[in-house]
Amino acid sequence: MVFVDVQWSYELETGFEEIDNQHKELIKKLNELFEAMGKFYHKEEAIQGITVFLSEYVTYHFKSEEALMEKYDYPGMELHKIEHNLLTKSVMDFQQHLNEKGLSIACLAKIQSFLINWFVNHVQQVDKLLAAFLKEAKAKESLSITGK
Ligand SMILES: [Fe+2]
Repeated sequence: MVFVDVQWSYELETGFEEIDNQHKELIKKLNELFEAMGKFYHKEEAIQGITVFLSEYVTYHFKSEEALMEKYDYPGMELHKIEHNLLTKSVMDFQQHLNEKGLSIACLAKIQSFLINWFVNHVQQVDKLLAAFLKEAKAKESLSITGK
């Protein structure tokens, strides 16, 4: 079974450096996870990959974005948080499914396409809006600091 990579591209760029850097790291983690899935017969490895992916980087990244939303009082915060919670819950459901029913290529393929779709759609539709707001908020902030 072929597990495709996610590639960083201009379409994924939000223009807010901190978020873009974390997204690049997230892509790296996603590709590591997909590589582990490619060796699907190593059950432990694939499940561990999902666990690490979830518990460490996704949590860190979501908290980081949410802290920025809170700092700048982002009006779309509640909806954005719902999206983050949805992804966390879906991956946890997949993880539970894997633990209870074991691995199958169909299940792994489903996880992979879900993660890629979620990531690409979320970045392009939700994170880009946030990044545009943050850039404007930061610009206003630096204007008021310099008093211009
Ligand atoms: Fe986000």
